[in-house]
Amino acid sequence: METLSLKTQVAIIGGGPSGLLLSQLLNRSGVDTVILERTSRERVLARIRAGVLESGTVTMLEEAGVADRLHREGHPHEGCWFSDDDLMVRINFAELTGKTVTVYGQTEVTRDLYAAQDVMGTTILHEVSDVVINNADSATPKITFTHDGNTKQLSCDYIAGCDGFHGVSRRTIPDAKRKEFERVYPFGWLGILSRTRPAHEELIYANSSSGFALASMRNENLSRYYVQVPLTDKVEDWSDDAFWTRLFACLPSDVVKTMETGPSIEKSIAPLRSFVSEPLRWGRLFLVGDAAHIVPPTGAKGLNLAVSDVFYLHQALIYAVQKGDDSGIDAYSGRAMTRIWKSMRFSWQLTTMLHQFDGEDSFAGQMRKAAMLHLAQSDTARKDLAENYVGLPF
Ligand code: APR
Ligand code: PHB
Repeated sequence: METLSLKTQVAIIGGGPSGLLLSQLLNRSGVDTVILERTSRERVLARIRAGVLESGTVTMLEEAGVADRLHREGHPHEGCWFSDDDLMVRINFAELTGKTVTVYGQTEVTRDLYAAQDVMGTTILHEVSDVVINNADSATPKITFTHDGNTKQLSCDYIAGCDGFHGVSRRTIPDAKRKEFERVYPFGWLGILSRTRPAHEELIYANSSSGFALASMRNENLSRYYVQVPLTDKVEDWSDDAFWTRLFACLPSDVVKTMETGPSIEKSIAPLRSFVSEPLRWGRLFLVGDAAHIVPPTGAKGLNLAVSDVFYLHQALIYAVQKGDDSGIDAYSGRAMTRIWKSMRFSWQLTTMLHQFDGEDSFAGQMRKAAMLHLAQSDTARKDLAENYVGLPF
């Protein structure tokens, strides 16, 4: 069968937020890209993901020219709450950092990026399979894949591995060249979407004797809630009534009093893990976002960390492609890893502070209560949390 050949400057594997944002920023600077995506656009857009954007992420989306709807429909939040049973502590981002976060679903960010890439006329091949990266450690990397029943070859100058945790890019880097770090948490988050008024106008991260819960939202008529569940639980184990009962047991009683409940329109369980693979580069292959790192959703860092990788890599690739200056791509992994590890720490610390761990002793519970009390009584503690939550500088 004839192999059809394509060529581009930067080949991007993965049509999620990382790949789309990188492609959009490169295209706007005149760098040609092709995106190879394993699934359909509909499947990508059907994924339910977190919805808190750091201020730096909003700035990057503005630079990419995809922030108009975000500014129309997104909700700036000046703070959020942490609770321990009925103790409630507000973290005033605006007062402590001068910044805010924006609540706007990742699905909407991805939708806006697809729309912008369509206007750009970028080649995005969906439902590709058998993607193989060849000669990544040479000056002439090539990607072979199957698309529309044909074997195709994409020649390129550089490859961005934006294909998530289960993608092919990270695994292309020889094990001997990589180092992995991981913490798998012994619980998951059972999440629901419901067409109800959110429990509170700001997010509430709740630690309680009944476990962790999070009260979030997508808009004033669409609530997003999570409760901690054992990893052995299945979605079918949880009726809506059982979910609301557990959520009410975790949230402060003053909040529960005025809550609206309703049927779930989406229900799923997500496992929690912290994972990092170093380095982010092998030859002309660069890892971005979930392909290189996974954070527990506690700190809302997943998408935001992918965006900071894109911030560092897009500049580096523009210099390399247009000026032959490799200083940026040579520095990419080190620069991005510094911010990745700091976000990894914050996400791990919040997860540890807010969740009950199987088999923990009474001392652990006291440590969580003491951490919450310190947060309640210390401006410094609240400022530390706030500056990490709104996003550390790129
Ligand atoms: N070939 C082509 N595409 C692939 C392959 C492959 N072999 N493997 C995976 N993909 C695609 C997936 O279908 C997905 O659309 O790569 C994309 C990766 O997207 P994400 O997993 O969303 O990762 P990323 O773009 O880095 O975004 C990170 O997404 O998962 C959330 O919590 C995460 O918010 C964070 C954000
Ligand atoms: C969400 O709204 O889905 C959400 C918000 C904050 C988090 C995690 C998830 O930390």
